[in-house]
Amino acid sequence: MQVPLRPTRALINLDALRSNYRLLSAQMPGAVVIPALKANAYGHGALAIAQECQELGATMFAVATVEEFFILRDGGISLPVLILQELFAEEAEAAALAGAVLTIASLKYAKQLSEFASRQKITLTTQINLDTGMGRMGLHSANPLEAIRAIFALGSLNIEGLFSHFSTSDEAGKTFVQTQMASFRTLSRALAEKGISFRYQHMANSGAILDTPDRDPFNGFRPGIALYGLFPSTEVNRTLPLAPVMKVVSRIVKINEYDRPWTVGYGRTYAVNPGSRIAIVPIGYGDGYPRGLSNRGKVGWKGQSLPVAGRVSMDMIAIDLTRTRTPDGQKPQVGDEVILLGGSPKIDGGPTTEDIANLQETIAYEITCGINARVPRIYLREGRMVGVETLREGYRSWGSI
Ligand SMILES: Cc1ncc(COP(=O)(O)O)c(C=O)c1O
Repeated sequence: MQVPLRPTRALINLDALRSNYRLLSAQMPGAVVIPALKANAYGHGALAIAQECQELGATMFAVATVEEFFILRDGGISLPVLILQELFAEEAEAAALAGAVLTIASLKYAKQLSEFASRQKITLTTQINLDTGMGRMGLHSANPLEAIRAIFALGSLNIEGLFSHFSTSDEAGKTFVQTQMASFRTLSRALAEKGISFRYQHMANSGAILDTPDRDPFNGFRPGIALYGLFPSTEVNRTLPLAPVMKVVSRIVKINEYDRPWTVGYGRTYAVNPGSRIAIVPIGYGDGYPRGLSNRGKVGWKGQSLPVAGRVSMDMIAIDLTRTRTPDGQKPQVGDEVILLGGSPKIDGGPTTEDIANLQETIAYEITCGINARVPRIYLREGRMVGVETLREGYRSWGSI
């Protein structure tokens, strides 16, 4: 049986995605695009985003976990998928046998992979992640040149790429970004002198694509947040007209009109008076709408911005409508759409995802990643629904998505 879609939905604008993809590609013309699809494409739905980017000409995808790789593979995505992190042996082996591109960040791990590949009589495609200043997962060695030469001396590995990751590309100061790029460049040249070269060399994330889209020696880039139409921070160059891809909407399911003083929600933190009108909207922290927006968040309704009243519960929020009217005198009604995030304050009154992130003292990444699978994703092209992803039925598309 087909279950009706909930009114609470994440609308995913594929035209916006396309436009962002093209704008970012134009920043680094001719470079291969490796979209970051980890965390379910930052909450946008990895399969639909992968299909779209595949059509747009992406070369490869980047994910963080083995399961994310299998979701793409089982969903029919044929492009190579790079798993960005080193893995435990059982994970690496399952991913390797299924054809994932694995990341090497130490000689020890490279040896394990090489031994496994030789036992299996396969050649494993890999890329080396170099720590140039992220200080997390990359290859960190007093002598990276020798470490990489030793990795190249191992058998059964096809080492197709060298990549690194910026730790401060979203900050205004670019000194450390340049330091990281310079150390990559120096090593890449030294390796080339020893006869070691790579099909792909990539480093830029969104901040670097926007601010320092340098090409030497890079021939690829890995956009994440900017692909989804959001800037990594307020400090980067924000002139590129990126368009937010996700907009979360819901509908007013009930309106309470009070004839006496009362309180709304857990903890009784919001008091109402006779004449108050309070709307109930079916979204809560169980969907990833942050509880920290209790008594602080705003939602959009017909171009206006209305306050969240009381605590955000697991499944619902309350909105104070008491003084709300459109310029021609209409009041909000049951069934009306409200915009929770990804809105345009001047057009629909809804908060932007960055507004929500600021209220939560976090980054936009955490907000879109946090909208969880209970919220159906509705894929839109030219305003028409071309696909859907639900918790129960997974991802379905119709026609050419
Ligand atoms: C290794 C790696 N590359 C690329 C990205 C994409 O970064 P951004 O979303 O800032 O573009 C990430 C995301 O954190 C990452 O971890």
